Amino acid sequence: MGGVELDPYTDRYAARTRGMSASAIRALFAVASRPEVVSLAGGMPFIDALPLDAVGELVATMVRERGTVALQYGSGQGLPALREQICEVMALEGIEASPDDVVVTVGSQQALDLVTRIFCDPGDVVLAEAPSYVGALGTFSSYQADVVHVPMDDAGLIPAALESACEEMARANRTVKFLYTVPNFHNPAGVSLSVPRRDEVLAITQRYGIMVLEDNPYGLLGFDSDPVVALRGRTDEGVLYLGSFSKTFAPGLRVGWVLAPHAVREKLVLAAEASVLCPPQFTQTIVSDYLRTQPWQQQIKVYQEVYRERRDTILDALAQHLPEGTRWTRPAGGFYTWVTLPHGLDATAMLPRAVQGRVAYVPGSAFYADGSGTSMMRLSYCYPPPERIREGVRRLASVIDEELETRSTFADEPGTDLAPADVGVPEAVTAPGPDTA
Ligand SMILES: Cc1ncc(COP(=O)(O)O)c(C=O)c1O
Repeated sequence: MGGVELDPYTDRYAARTRGMSASAIRALFAVASRPEVVSLAGGMPFIDALPLDAVGELVATMVRERGTVALQYGSGQGLPALREQICEVMALEGIEASPDDVVVTVGSQQALDLVTRIFCDPGDVVLAEAPSYVGALGTFSSYQADVVHVPMDDAGLIPAALESACEEMARANRTVKFLYTVPNFHNPAGVSLSVPRRDEVLAITQRYGIMVLEDNPYGLLGFDSDPVVALRGRTDEGVLYLGSFSKTFAPGLRVGWVLAPHAVREKLVLAAEASVLCPPQFTQTIVSDYLRTQPWQQQIKVYQEVYRERRDTILDALAQHLPEGTRWTRPAGGFYTWVTLPHGLDATAMLPRAVQGRVAYVPGSAFYADGSGTSMMRLSYCYPPPERIREGVRRLASVIDEELETRSTFADEPGTDLAPADVGVPEAVTAPGPDTA
C-alpha cells in the first residue's frame, strides 16, 4: 500500500510513553550488522575471547546435576550463593557489603529501571554527566524524570559544575532524586573520575542530600592499573551501586545487580517481583558456577589484553588519519573513545554518508537528553579486530574529509548561511575536553 502508517493506538498510550523513542543504537544495530560495514558503533563485548568449550561443559554439567533447581522459579532477590560471590567481586573495588543488601537483576539495565521506578516521580530531576549512557537516559525519560547534565573533562565529572547544578536546582526548588554517574571508563566519554574528585563528588552530594547512582560495568576492565576504589567503597551512605557480568563474562546471560542501602533493598525486591517475579535462576546458576569453578579473574585479564590492543589500535589510527582539529579522549580502560569533530561538523547528519562509506558510529546527540552534542560521536573499539578498526578509522577519515570539503566549497558561495565553526555548542557539551590527541 505504501504511505505513512499511523499508529491507531496513539491516543491510548500512557503519558510516560511520550519520552520513549527508538534509540540511535537500536537503528544502528540493523545497519552495522551488514558484513561490509565496519561497526565502531555497538558496545558489544568480544565473546570470542571466552573459553566456550569450558562454558559449554559447565552448563551441561549444571543442567544434568542441578537442572531441577536451575530451571525452577527462584527468589526475587536472587540466588543467595551468587549474591555472596557478587560481594567477593565488589571487594576488588574496595566495597564491603553484605549479600543481604544485593539484589540480582536482569542486567544492570533492569537495575537502572528498578531504581528509577522506586525513586522518580514525573518531573523529578536526575543529574547526569554530559554525555551519559544512552540506555540510562532512555530509562529516566520513560519515568518522565528530567535529566540535567553536568559537564565532564578528562578527569570525569567536574565537582564545581556539580556544585553549581545542585545550587541551581535548590534555588529553582526542583527535587533532585540522584546523581547518575559512570565513574570508570565512561560510556560514552571514555574518561574516568579521578581519585581526588571521588571524595569531592561525595562531599557535594552529601551536602545537598542527593543520592548517588554509581553505574560500574567497566571498572575491572582497566588497562594500566589496579581497580580504583568505587564511590560505594568510600561510603555506604546514600550510594546505590550497579554492577554487571555483561562485560566481565557475557551479556547474553543478562545478570547484573544493585547494592543498595538496607532500607532501599526491600523496595527494590518488591519492584523486581512486580517486574519479573525473579531474575532467571538458570543464568544466575551459570554465573555462580562459572565464578566457583573457572579462573574468572584470569579471564578478565584476557579481556583486558584484547581491549588494550584495540584501544592502542584505534588511538594510533585516529592520530594517523583524522584531520586536524578533531579531538578524542584516551581511555585507560573500557570500550569507548569520544570524538569531537572539527568545525562543528554534525555527526548525526554525517551518519548516512558514513554508512554509505561502510563505517558506523553512534552520533553524540544520542547521549544527551536535550539532543545536543551534535558535533561528537562515540567510537567503540571493543568488538572489531585491530585490522578492521584501522580500516574503519580510514573510512571515517575519508567521510570527514569529504564533509569538510563540501563545507568549504559551500562556505565560498556568497549568501550561503552555514553555521560557523565551533559556535552554538553549550558549555556542557564541550566536555570531555583537554586530553585530546
Ligand atoms: C554504563 C552502562 N550501564 C549499563 C549498561 C547495561 O548493561 P547490562 O548488560 O548489564 O544490562 C551498559 C551497557 O552497555 C553500560 O554501558
